[in-house]
Amino acid sequence: MGKKPFIVGNWKMNLTLSEGIEFAKSLKNSLHGINEILCGICPSFVFLKDICKVLEGSHICVGAQNVHSEKNGAYTGEISALMVKEAGCTHVLIGHSERRHLFGEIDSFINAKIKTALSVNLKPIFCIGETLKEREEGRTEYVVEKQLKDGLLGIDNNHVEGLVIAYEPVWAIGTGKTASPEQANEVHSFIRGFLTDNYGKVIANSVYIQYGGSVKPENTAELISQPEIDGLLVGGASIKLESFLKIIDAASIQ
Ligand code: PGA
Repeated sequence: MGKKPFIVGNWKMNLTLSEGIEFAKSLKNSLHGINEILCGICPSFVFLKDICKVLEGSHICVGAQNVHSEKNGAYTGEISALMVKEAGCTHVLIGHSERRHLFGEIDSFINAKIKTALSVNLKPIFCIGETLKEREEGRTEYVVEKQLKDGLLGIDNNHVEGLVIAYEPVWAIGTGKTASPEQANEVHSFIRGFLTDNYGKVIANSVYIQYGGSVKPENTAELISQPEIDGLLVGGASIKLESFLKIIDAASIQ
């Protein structure tokens, strides 16, 4: 598709502040002058401001792992899109499977979060994917299409342009089971087809479709060389600098 691969690390609830800062400093040094790839990290909320500061002046973007759908108000324990924007973030993960399955987030809530993020100029990384049961029942396309339809409901074409969608089969997240490159590419093609039907070819091709689920240095080259895979969302292998750098390396030489 001719896009630079977009590799994002999702640190989840890992690392300490000092480890995160060290990681960000080393990542910045290691990627200095490397332009073949786009890279981002999604640290814990409480590290965002410090990490954004470390990465100032680099091309590495910082994303939050979640935001609420309201911009402010009586939502004890929640974080608003305005707050993460103010901390320096450019991106935010929305609809991650752990949010959907462990914290009960539903499509309409995810849709509201995407709208709010866009309204404050944060770029959503919109996560979708089927469970093992859904795949075994042959419902992968149905589930993915429903998540896309509901998640993108009422969102303007100009906001869909350049959007990042992460296809993460739930059965592959943190399990060590990666979707085969062909399996992933097949669903990516389906997602691209949905976007083409609903928004036209130009917009569909501008969307970054990342794959996520047990990405590691050893499977990066094969995954990223698939025609419909524009990037990777990496969990476990992104919290160790060495493996994250190996993934970036393997993705840049494709
Ligand atoms: P994993 O997580 O790479 O550890 O499977 C991916 C994700 O949750 O984004």
